[in-house]
Amino acid sequence: MLIAAAGLACARPDAPAATRDSHTPPGPPSLRGPSDSLIPEGPLGAAIGRGRALLAATRESLPDHVGNGLRCVSCHLDAGRRQTGSWVGVYARYPQYRARSATVETIQDRVNDCFRRSMNGAPLATDSPDMRDIVAYLWFLSRDVPIAAPQGANRLQKWAALKSDTVAGAAVFATACAKCHGPDGQGTQIAPPVWGPKSFNVGAGMARVRTAAAFIRDNMPFDQPGTLSDQQAFDVAAYMDSRQRPDFPDKINDWPNGDAPPDVAYPTRAAQRNGTRVPRGRSP
Ligand code: HEC
Ligand code: HEC
Repeated sequence: MLIAAAGLACARPDAPAATRDSHTPPGPPSLRGPSDSLIPEGPLGAAIGRGRALLAATRESLPDHVGNGLRCVSCHLDAGRRQTGSWVGVYARYPQYRARSATVETIQDRVNDCFRRSMNGAPLATDSPDMRDIVAYLWFLSRDVPIAAPQGANRLQKWAALKSDTVAGAAVFATACAKCHGPDGQGTQIAPPVWGPKSFNVGAGMARVRTAAAFIRDNMPFDQPGTLSDQQAFDVAAYMDSRQRPDFPDKINDWPNGDAPPDVAYPTRAAQRNGTRVPRGRSP
């Protein structure tokens, strides 16, 4: 309680400067997570700090587990404190039933989903020190967030009303994205690949047009977030997700109950079996 009250006080303009933390981005305290100054001293604090370092220097630290040019915080911006792609509160949302696997997943399972798909790599052993420290950081970011069932997928519903145009998306990419991500989406010194062999694979959440549109709308262009219209974000997401990227052979086993969302661009065994919900292509 004391902590929450202190967080609120920090957000007030009249709060003493000494209580503000320069590492904490602006926004309501519940969304931006706890201040780094609350990381405790001692072994627990060391684990939290090491977890955060793994999430930021993922390839360098865990080369056997990363198969592309991304790091965890490439999509979970501001070390997981940015609203769209946030890890704030994530520890309190697991275990969670997920339709994609049709199982109850622990937070370790969910971390490994991103290793296998978003990072096109290999999962960590759930009892490894690396996993422990990543979970310690996610736990820290979820401090004071009550355990609760996750929100439904309805937040992506607004994109259902739009129709994507990949030709228009290519034009948006050339003007608003290519200078950082490269004309062929291959990445540059300042930004990672968005398609091609070093990108996330086809089974990743970012390979779904609605998920990508929400991320791009809120977070890109990196230096001018929020400047694209919904339509521009949707078009460029559809263009990006229509490009070549690594396959994820296990995708055939996704949504085994045949309840894949409409922006999933690949056939699953369940959908083929049921003859229902066969994806109509990449434009939902
Ligand atoms: C290519 C982009 C991308 C990369 C790289 C990435 N993720 Fe994710 N991650 C996502 C998306 C998209 C979601 C789904 C977000 C949602 O449902 O709102 C997600 C969800 C998660 C979640 C669950 C969030 C929740 O609220 O349920 C965790 C935990 C997570 N990622 C951890 C990681 C870790 C650890 C890494 C690095 C090993 C990583 N991610 C790398 C895109 C990415
Ligand atoms: C000013 C440079 C810049 C511009 C312009 C820019 N980005 Fe990014 N983008 C970044 C950076 C930096 C990251 C995060 C890199 C990191 O921390 O690893 C990022 C991350 C991403 C990611 C998640 C990581 C990945 O590579 O898959 C996607 C998707 C993305 N940008 C798409 C876009 C799109 C689409 C546009 C155009 C609308 C765009 N970006 C414009 C710099 C830029």
